[in-house]
Amino acid sequence: MALELLYTSLICLAALAGGATSAPLHLQCLDNPPDLTAAGAQAGKVVDDLAGFRAYVTGPVHSDRAIVLASDIFGFEAPLLRQAADKVAEAGYYVVVPDFFNGKPYTGDPSVNITQWIDDHSPVKAARDAKPIFATLKKERKSIIGVGGYCWGVGKFAVEIAKMDEVKAIVISHPSSIVVDDMREVKCPIEILGAQNDTTTPQKFIYQFLHALRKRSDKAPYFGKIFPGVAHGFACRYNSTDPFAVRTAEQALALMLGWFKKYME
Ligand SMILES: *[C@@H]1O[C@H](CO)[C@@H](O)[C@H](O)[C@H]1NC(C)=O
Ligand SMILES: *[C@@H]1O[C@H](CO)[C@@H](O)[C@H](O)[C@H]1NC(C)=O
Ligand SMILES: *[C@@H]1O[C@H](CO)[C@@H](O)[C@H](O)[C@H]1NC(C)=O
Repeated sequence: MALELLYTSLICLAALAGGATSAPLHLQCLDNPPDLTAAGAQAGKVVDDLAGFRAYVTGPVHSDRAIVLASDIFGFEAPLLRQAADKVAEAGYYVVVPDFFNGKPYTGDPSVNITQWIDDHSPVKAARDAKPIFATLKKERKSIIGVGGYCWGVGKFAVEIAKMDEVKAIVISHPSSIVVDDMREVKCPIEILGAQNDTTTPQKFIYQFLHALRKRSDKAPYFGKIFPGVAHGFACRYNSTDPFAVRTAEQALALMLGWFKKYME
């Protein structure tokens, strides 16, 4: 029986899109770098030592629920990302956006070798290094912790964190570099927000992830949505003068908040 089930699921996997399961970090990950000069009003502040990390923090400091937002490769200074953090905070969460790049995010400088940069900033290593952040938040009586991430920050980061049993829920928006196997190891409810025009993690990858989640015997909650008419980066590097892009990013944020609300009570 067990063998038969295994066999069936192998067939299903094999039937999926030629077995392409890994989404490399490239191309659209580098599009639309944030305009760092466009910083609007920010509700939070930067702290220098959150378990050894600089971090943008926002929201009620005494809340028992915290959200860690992991940035894309452009780092924690991106104004639209901080705006999203502020909006999450308005829902009652203490939100932290750590600087995982030690002051050296990818800047779009064409002389930087992106492959090398990614090698030097492994999200898997960052997830390990981030453990003290979760320990510190727990020490501060934040018993319920969620993780949201974008691109690099969900590429391996949020998924690796979700394997460690540290968090109650994760939301990953336009992920990069995750693989189907990751979906078998995530230990908490996971929401995946993809983009129709994403060349980094094309729709078919998102469907493969959802398929793997659906196949799990423990029936861990999951949800996936693919937003039409947008590309990779749509949730945190959108064109803020394009009403459609703004509306889509708002919808993604609302879905993220809904997921946290549902699984972090
Ligand atoms: C970029 O870095 C990678 C990894 O270190 C290396 O293999 C590759 O040759 C480099 N590419 C260029 C154009 O320097
Ligand atoms: C998405 O793809 C469609 C069809 O290829 C194209 O018409 C549209 O301009 C693309 N939109 C974005 C935001 O990339
Ligand atoms: C942003 O959107 C506006 C309005 O749709 C458009 O005129 C502008 O070209 C867009 N900017 C970029 C960089 O795509």
